[in-house]
Amino acid sequence: MNDVFQGRVVIVGMGYIGLPTAVAIATRGIDVVGVDINPDVVNALSRGEVALVEPDLAVGVKGAVAMGHLTASLEIPQADAFIIAVPTPFHHDKTADLSCVEAAVRQIAPVLRPGNIVILESTCPPGTTEKVCEWVADLRPDLKTPIHGEGRTDVFFAHCPERVLPGRIMIEIIMNDRVVGGLTPACAEKAASIYRLFAKGEILLTDAASAEMAKLAENAYRDVNLAFANEISLISESLHIDVWEVIRLANRHPRVTILNPGPGVGGHCIPVDPWFIVSAAPDMAKLIRAAREVNDHRPHHVAEQVVEKARQFRAPTVACLGLTFKANVDDIRESPAIDVVGLIAQAMPELSILVADPYVHTLPERLGNYANLKLESPFKAVEKADIVVLLVEHETFRSLKNTRLSGKVVYDTRGIWH
Ligand SMILES: NC(=O)c1ccc[n+]([C@@H]2O[C@H](COP(=O)([O-])OP(=O)(O)OC[C@H]3O[C@@H](n4cnc5c(N)ncnc54)[C@H](O)[C@@H]3O)[C@@H](O)[C@H]2O)c1
Repeated sequence: MNDVFQGRVVIVGMGYIGLPTAVAIATRGIDVVGVDINPDVVNALSRGEVALVEPDLAVGVKGAVAMGHLTASLEIPQADAFIIAVPTPFHHDKTADLSCVEAAVRQIAPVLRPGNIVILESTCPPGTTEKVCEWVADLRPDLKTPIHGEGRTDVFFAHCPERVLPGRIMIEIIMNDRVVGGLTPACAEKAASIYRLFAKGEILLTDAASAEMAKLAENAYRDVNLAFANEISLISESLHIDVWEVIRLANRHPRVTILNPGPGVGGHCIPVDPWFIVSAAPDMAKLIRAAREVNDHRPHHVAEQVVEKARQFRAPTVACLGLTFKANVDDIRESPAIDVVGLIAQAMPELSILVADPYVHTLPERLGNYANLKLESPFKAVEKADIVVLLVEHETFRSLKNTRLSGKVVYDTRGIWH
């Protein structure tokens, strides 16, 4: 018989992961306190409002707050379970920056009581859950933790990574299978009792380091496959072979599925997380490092191709279509499209560049310093352009096919007009 969780949950970090998790738990009738260091986030949440754009999140927050099950705070109160969902970016040398995780642990430690569980949801290098336990053990020598060995444990520790897709978070947070890794089997079982409250996918119990590595392996797998597609694209282009035809034909093999190439790999997960594996095993992670380098080079290659085409005109106008890191969302984090536009603008200051994205209404900060850049509507940008560069396959751009593109030089990095 599985344990049923009862008690109060504190979630530290009210972002794209913490807030949907808070809603999922609170709407099951459990009291959840959402903690954030950003007063704007806390004030908005207290009013039942949310600044993040994610389908069904706003209505979920409004309902959970109105029912009184979701409250917000700048301070960490006492609770039965603490879930950490703070950012884990990397340093300049590509090693994981765990400062937000450590800050969260330092805030949690003083309020911990016997029987509590600390769950790390942030994506982290292998060994981080154990490190969290060590930090707590240092800060609270009065509490017994799993690092003290066999016997009674006062505080339990687990890693439960997220694998939701932005744009479908509220669905996937419920439906996806869930990896729950404990520092001990009892830790995993205790953590699972929380996820069983709302998860309809299977809950897979394991140890903490395997859960950490599984999450990183998922994103490295995606990155390596994208790098393969991008390399095939690069080679085909240099041999004057149509890469879309190559992929279409190769994918008719019953055991081959080559992904679509593109202008690079964006978002704040896939371009970041593989580096955590590389820094954990630098001498062994050869393929994973190479994939990162291939994908990081893509925006440079695309920009070089556009510049080469532009040099064949006297005073050309280039339309760059798409700025977000993927199609049909407004998220511009680590977007390779922005890198491409910036690199073109930098290489040819005399070029007139019109940028169009139905989801972006002001030029991103990174592009703010270029005088030769202007935001334009997609149709106007294409109308005025000599060269049209497709960077993101937003639905709006598909309808541009043939009619408006004739007579223009077209560089379609996503193959939607093929
Ligand atoms: N967004 C995704 O699609 C996704 C998917 C899988 C995994 N993840 C991982 O989940 C973690 C969180 O990502 P996110 O997208 O939710 O980040 P986010 O930037 O959307 O939100 C993080 C929140 O944490 C707050 N914060 C930072 N330090 C804090 C502290 N010490 N105390 C309290 N609040 C603090 C920030 O103010 C922010 O509101 C990361 O490790 C990320 O890699 C994200």
